[in-house]
Amino acid sequence: MLKKKVEDICNRQVEREGYSSILYLAMASWSESNGLAGIAAWLYAQAEEEKLHMLKFIKYINERGGKAIIPAFKKPPTEFKTVEELFKEVLKHENFVTASINEIVAVTLEEKDFNTHNFLQWFVTEQVEEESSAQAIIDKLKLGGKSNLYQFDRDIMSLRPPAAKAPGA
Ligand SMILES: [Fe+2]
Ligand SMILES: [Fe+2]
Repeated sequence: MLKKKVEDICNRQVEREGYSSILYLAMASWSESNGLAGIAAWLYAQAEEEKLHMLKFIKYINERGGKAIIPAFKKPPTEFKTVEELFKEVLKHENFVTASINEIVAVTLEEKDFNTHNFLQWFVTEQVEEESSAQAIIDKLKLGGKSNLYQFDRDIMSLRPPAAKAPGA
């Protein structure tokens, strides 16, 4: 049985992973409507992964005798200044999610909940991947992608690591 404190902070993460998904959907839609089909494909794929992250938390909470709450999400932005600004937002958001996962890890140690601690290790590893892939895209944009968006848009999907396979996914 999950302790209330662990259940609550895992439910907070259900909201954060779900919001990540709709944030990336909003970015995908903006990109698609601006003729950037490759960038949109990258972001749609990312949105799908975030939905799976949310589901992992939902199922984990319920499996451990808690109750996963499906929250309302705040409205994501609809406009982004440039592609580079957009990916800087992605990185900033991933930094926020990493800090959030780390806080849950800390709570599991305080509460001596080693099962949840173990469940979180997949996310700890995933966040390293997420931050480095956002940073790699920003680096490519700085290297010249900004001045040749056509080529950058065409090639971005090749920068995508094969989706990290989650235990039980
Ligand atoms: Fe995530
Ligand atoms: Fe993420």
